[in-house]
Amino acid sequence: MNVLVVGGGGREHAIIKKLRENDAVRLIFCLPGNGGIAEDADCVAIGAKELDGIVDFAGAHDIDFAVVAQDDPLALGCVDRLHALGIPCFGPDAKAARIESSKVFAKNLMKKYGIPTADYEVFDDPAAALAYLEGAKYPIVVKADGLALGKGVLICQDLEAARAAVAEIMEKRAFGDAGSRVVIERFLTGPEVSVLAFTDGKTIRPMVSSMDHKRAGDGDTGLNTGGMGTVAPNPYYTEAIAQTCMERIFLPTIRAMQAEGCPFKGCLYFGLMLTPEGPMVIEYNCRFGDPETQVVLPLLKTDLLTIMQAVENETLDRVQVEWSDGAAACVILASGGYPVQYEKGKPIAIPDDLPTNVTVYHAGDKLLPGGLVTSGGRVLGVTATADTLRQALDDAYAAARRIRFEGAFMRSDIGRRALAVLEG
Ligand code: AMP
Ligand code: GLY
Repeated sequence: MNVLVVGGGGREHAIIKKLRENDAVRLIFCLPGNGGIAEDADCVAIGAKELDGIVDFAGAHDIDFAVVAQDDPLALGCVDRLHALGIPCFGPDAKAARIESSKVFAKNLMKKYGIPTADYEVFDDPAAALAYLEGAKYPIVVKADGLALGKGVLICQDLEAARAAVAEIMEKRAFGDAGSRVVIERFLTGPEVSVLAFTDGKTIRPMVSSMDHKRAGDGDTGLNTGGMGTVAPNPYYTEAIAQTCMERIFLPTIRAMQAEGCPFKGCLYFGLMLTPEGPMVIEYNCRFGDPETQVVLPLLKTDLLTIMQAVENETLDRVQVEWSDGAAACVILASGGYPVQYEKGKPIAIPDDLPTNVTVYHAGDKLLPGGLVTSGGRVLGVTATADTLRQALDDAYAAARRIRFEGAFMRSDIGRRALAVLEG
């Protein structure tokens, strides 16, 4: 089989390494891929948003199955275009991808179908948004409607900050057209849990839960990033909470998408907050999380391609999805200055004798004739699996400290809160 993967970060690297475990997979093409993925797949310099290029490439290369892993191509209809060529795909079509690409769509869906989420209002006129903010309670959360690289959410402590957020999003258009509408919602509190789930639109199989660490600095300080590290499973997510989520959130969401005429097929990501009033949805993503995938997929025992094909064929009810009992931890090595300004092109040195329970997923690097160099903010995700979370964290950190590039930094407290919950 020839498989095509669209995307080029740590998440795609984790997907590709897992797909490689299936002996039927012959060639894997990754568009565009990166320096590390090039060891596991044929990387082709076609950007993940260049739909015409992707479709032309797929049509010319005998592709048996495609995995569209990144949000923008999904929102732009990459799966619709590949389906039109007759290529089976893993990933939602553009209509279903709106669950991530429009926060207004997602919030209205949850309201209509009684899925627990923060109370909210939608505005397409800045003056009306500003008037609403006068009488609101603080803190409050202001969100751009569209895709904004995870940066379109502003938590505002007071009226002044909220006014600035509306100006930034709607008037200055800091996130472009994503800011033509805003959602203003109640500030919730509680531990956050990421749950990724395979779904074929009818059956849903949640994956092992995980915990992201979004802020750049230790102790959850500093700016929001794409994620500085993850652990799985998430110790806050008990069996009882999982059951509540299945009944009140997961099943109602896939039924709602069906009822709206846009059944969701692919990986549906539930960003949950365990509030004093019960689990609520903070956000949906229409794809695997990054860097959640780097801790979730290493714990998957069932063949990934088999699951993905069952999702596409709508036969997921016939597949049992099994997980290891152990734990996984991923520590991100980022370029100095990320997420604001950072230099690229720094040579990367990775020891070749890392332990076998450690995998380095490459996110922002490229392969030059002289070797690997940095090319992005989040450069590598160093993942370890082990019987316990403590061991996984120790091993991931020990490996991460042995990897060198100029300016490299990592958070030193990934998993600390999770360990505190586990070990009391
Ligand atoms: P999102 O991009 O929607 O995942 O939001 C980024 C982060 O903002 C989330 O991971 C939460 O930590 C925080 N956040 C979003 N919405 C809320 C809310 N209603 N209350 C509290 N925090 C929120
Ligand atoms: N780690 C958060 C995301 O993938 O959106």
